[in-house]
Amino acid sequence: MSKLDAIRTKINEIDRQMATLFEERMEISREIAEYKKEQGLPVYDANREQALIKQNLTYVKNKDIQDAYISFLRHTMDVSKQYQKRIITHQQQTSKVLTITMKDTSYDIVIQNGGLQHIESYFSFTHQNVLIITDSGVPKTYVECLQQQIAHAVVYTFEQGEASKNFENYEKIIAFLIEHSFSRSDCIIALGGGVVGDIAGFVAATYMRGIAFYNIPTTLLSQVDASIGGKTAIDKAGVKNIVGAFYPPIGVLIDSMVLKTLDKRQLYAGLVEALKMGATSDASLFEQIEKSQDVFSDIESIIIRALLVKKSIVEQDPKEEHLRKILNFGHTVGHAIESKGGFQRYLHGECVGMGMLYFCSEEVKQRIQAVLEKYHLPTRCELLKEELLSYMMLDKKRTGDTISVIYVESIGKCKILSLPFEALDPYL
Ligand SMILES: NC(=O)c1ccc[n+]([C@@H]2O[C@H](COP(=O)([O-])OP(=O)(O)OC[C@H]3O[C@@H](n4cnc5c(N)ncnc54)[C@H](O)[C@@H]3O)[C@@H](O)[C@H]2O)c1
Repeated sequence: MSKLDAIRTKINEIDRQMATLFEERMEISREIAEYKKEQGLPVYDANREQALIKQNLTYVKNKDIQDAYISFLRHTMDVSKQYQKRIITHQQQTSKVLTITMKDTSYDIVIQNGGLQHIESYFSFTHQNVLIITDSGVPKTYVECLQQQIAHAVVYTFEQGEASKNFENYEKIIAFLIEHSFSRSDCIIALGGGVVGDIAGFVAATYMRGIAFYNIPTTLLSQVDASIGGKTAIDKAGVKNIVGAFYPPIGVLIDSMVLKTLDKRQLYAGLVEALKMGATSDASLFEQIEKSQDVFSDIESIIIRALLVKKSIVEQDPKEEHLRKILNFGHTVGHAIESKGGFQRYLHGECVGMGMLYFCSEEVKQRIQAVLEKYHLPTRCELLKEELLSYMMLDKKRTGDTISVIYVESIGKCKILSLPFEALDPYL
C-alpha cells in the first residue's frame, strides 16, 4: 500500500464515523423541528447559533484551522435548518429554500408560490411589536393577508414611487416606531417592491442601531435582485442610494403569486435584473430569457436562477469590495439616467437595461438590445455624454480619477475595468 493510500484509508474511516454522526445529528434535528413546530418557535435562533460556534470552537485546539471549522459548522447548521424547515412546513415537494451564508450571519430565502398565506410556517413573529411597511401601490389584499396571520402587527403605508425613498419618509417611519414604543427586540417586515425593501431595510438597520428585518418582495425586480444581499438605502439630492447600509434580513419570502397583480411594464423592467445576472455570469439564464416564448409561465425558475447567481457573488463579497461590483452592470449609466430626470419617465429596470448597452462588446450589445426590444423595453438613452460623465463623478464606484465599470465581453463572462475618466469617452 502506498503512503497516500494509507493516509486515504484513515480519512475514509473518519468519513465513515462522520456519516454515522451526521445521521445521529439529523435525527436530533428532526426531534428539535417537531418540538419547535409544536411550540410555534422559529427554526433560526441567532443567539443560539453564535453561542454554539463560540462553545464548539474551544474544542478545536489548532488555531490554523479554526476559520475552516467555523465554515464547516455554519454549513452543518444551514443543512440542519433546511431540514427542520422542510419538516415544519410539510412542503418538501414545493418549497425551496436558499440559505445565504455571510461571515457573521446567515438567512433563508423561502421561495413558495402562495407562501404569503402561510407566512407563519416559515417565520415566527413572536416579537411584541411588528411593523409592516408597505406603499400605496401594493394591493391591500396582501397587507390584509399578513395582518390576518400576525394579528398584533401595525402597518405604515407611504406613497408609492422612487420619490418616497428619501429622508423625509425615513424620518416619518422612525417617528412612527418611537410613537408605537418599538424596542430593539421588535421587528419590521417590508412588503412591497425595491423601494419599500430599501427604505424599510434602512430604517431597520438604523433604528436603535438595528432591529430585526424581514423582507417580502412583491415585484419581480425586488424578488430577483433587491431581496438578496442586504443592501438598504435612500436617495438624497437626486443621487440614488447615496445613504445606506449593508443590513441582512432575518428572512425573505418570495411568493411569485403576487406578481399576478403587477403590470406588464413592471414585470418587463424586473426581468432586466435577471437578464443582467445572465449577461454577466450565467449564459444559460440569459438564453432562457432570450429564447422563451412565454417567460412568465415559469417565472419561478428564472427567479431561482437569478438568485443563485447573486447568492454565489454576495457570499464571496458581501460588502462589494471586488467581485460584487459585477452586479452593477448597467447601473452606472442606469443610475445616471434615473437621477438626471429619468425617475418620472423610466422605471429602475428600464434604466438598467439601457445602461447595459454601454460597456459591452458589439455582439453582446446586439443580443441585449434584441431582448430589450422583445420585452418592449426602451433602448435609447437621451442623455448627453457630458451629463453621463458629470453623474459618474458622484458614483460610489469612483476612486479618485478612476471609476470601476463592468464590461461584458461575451454573454456569461464579464470583467471589472478600472478606467480613468478621460478613457470613458469611447464607451459613452
Ligand atoms: N437593495 C438592493 O439590492 C436593490 C437592488 C435592485 C434595486 N433596488 C431598488 O429597488 C427600487 C426599484 O424597485 P421596484 O422596481 O420593485 O419598484 P417599486 O418598489 O417602486 O415598485 C413598483 C410599483 O409596483 C407596485 N407594486 C409592488 N408590488 C406590487 C404587486 N404585487 N402588484 C401590483 N403592484 C405592486 C408598487 O407600489 C410600485 O408602484 C429602486 O429604488 C432600486 O434602487 C435595490
